[in-house]
Amino acid sequence: MTPHTLVVGGTGMLSGLCEALADDGGRLSILSRHASRTSVGDGFDCDYYDPASFSAGLDAAVARSGPITLAVAWFHTLKIEAPRLLAMQVEGRLFQVLGSAVADPSHPWRLETARERADGSPVCELRQVVLGFKVEAGGSRWLTNREISDGVLDAVRTDRPLTIIGQTKPWSAKP
Ligand SMILES: NC(=O)c1ccc[n+]([C@@H]2O[C@H](COP(=O)([O-])OP(=O)(O)OC[C@H]3O[C@@H](n4cnc5c(N)ncnc54)[C@H](OP(=O)(O)O)[C@@H]3O)[C@@H](O)[C@H]2O)c1
Repeated sequence: MTPHTLVVGGTGMLSGLCEALADDGGRLSILSRHASRTSVGDGFDCDYYDPASFSAGLDAAVARSGPITLAVAWFHTLKIEAPRLLAMQVEGRLFQVLGSAVADPSHPWRLETARERADGSPVCELRQVVLGFKVEAGGSRWLTNREISDGVLDAVRTDRPLTIIGQTKPWSAKP
């Protein structure tokens, strides 16, 4: 079976990741509202706030390239149906890219809640990647798009259950 990697939100901060994954061989699908403009892989336009639209995008990607063997997903929120709709189609690893808010120590259950949003398929193996921040001389800052893409690529390559890009501690140091 030809490997099929699917990236949700691959036209934004994960575009560097998509370029790297495209060089791996296999099939690459990108889902976003304007994914058909992408120059790497096959783009499928859809809106993840609209379950019918998102399902149609997933179905079209699977129809073209076969079962999804690796997925990377960045959703602005997980309180929608799309994360579970995606998980139900993945026959391999699914990397959830999560904003730094999941590391807020005053809400310690957020990582587990994110995990539950992708529950439901016995053949989908969930991994989590948390976007942190950088502390440098003179203060702290959010990650650049390059750091995010490189960090997610490293998470995929090393296959850790949980990856923090940058740092999330001390929480009080965040920008
Ligand atoms: N450290 C942190 O915790 C953290 C967390 C998040 C973001 N950031 C920073 O903030 C910047 C902006 O973040 P961003 O969220 O705008 O990320 P982004 O990755 O630059 O853009 C969002 C991605 O999701 C797609 N998208 C957006 N809405 C969609 C929808 N309804 N349906 C389908 N696809 C959709 C967009 O493509 P289309 O426009 O084609 O739909 C795009 O590919 C990033 O560049 C990053 O540096 C930092």
